[in-house]
Amino acid sequence: MTLAAGGGSTPPASLAEVLASRRMCRDFADDPVPQEQLGRVLHAAFRGPAAGNTAGLELLVLTGEDRDAYWALTLPPQRRDGFAWPGLLHAPVLVIPYVDPGAYVRRYALDDKAGSGLGTSTSAWTVPYWWVDGGAAVMAMLLAAESDGLGALLFGQFDHEAAVAERFGVGEPWRAIGTLALGHPARGGRRPSRSARDGRPGPAGRIHHGTW
Ligand SMILES: Cc1cc2nc3c(=O)[nH]c(=O)nc-3n(C[C@H](O)[C@H](O)[C@H](O)COP(=O)(O)O)c2cc1C
Repeated sequence: MTLAAGGGSTPPASLAEVLASRRMCRDFADDPVPQEQLGRVLHAAFRGPAAGNTAGLELLVLTGEDRDAYWALTLPPQRRDGFAWPGLLHAPVLVIPYVDPGAYVRRYALDDKAGSGLGTSTSAWTVPYWWVDGGAAVMAMLLAAESDGLGALLFGQFDHEAAVAERFGVGEPWRAIGTLALGHPARGGRRPSRSARDGRPGPAGRIHHGTW
């Protein structure tokens, strides 16, 4: 389903439609993403909920030579032959959402949160909310991209996180959620991954009312 961006005569898609049509995109066209459209997706990251309203999220946006440098570092040319998703490298924009766990500790050390005991260190957090908020930011960007007619994929950095941070001057406290590839879907469409081939695991049997 193609969802039109705001403007024009097509009415905006409802949230239900955007949720239903969103799937990860791993095959991109080379067409650039206009700044205004990119801005809408990036700003969506900051509309998600954040524990304690902490400002613990920032984005690194890579385009052009910076995007090429990212791929040279994480998928050097000699390893590309066997890569299952060559169309992913065409995505004109890579967005890396970074979270600062220390910002959450500092926020929860303030008067109104100190009673939680979470303001002492990151190890006090049974649920590290920086990952929760980072996931919400990613979902907001995925939905914004879909509603704007763009494709997107969140993929892991795995053991490249430190090298990527060093290459782009990201400082010590910041942790990467992953990398979000963003762009126009390739005209051939989206090839589902092995993970998605069996369809989405639906809600049947996974919603428990009253007792588990
Ligand atoms: C935290 C997270 C990490 C993911 N990492 C990868 C990845 O490294 N490579 C990849 O191709 N897809 C990755 N995915 C995409 C999932 O495979 C995909 O979301 C899942 O198969 C469901 O498909 P859909 O999002 O298209 O509905 C990741 C998704 C999430 C939420």
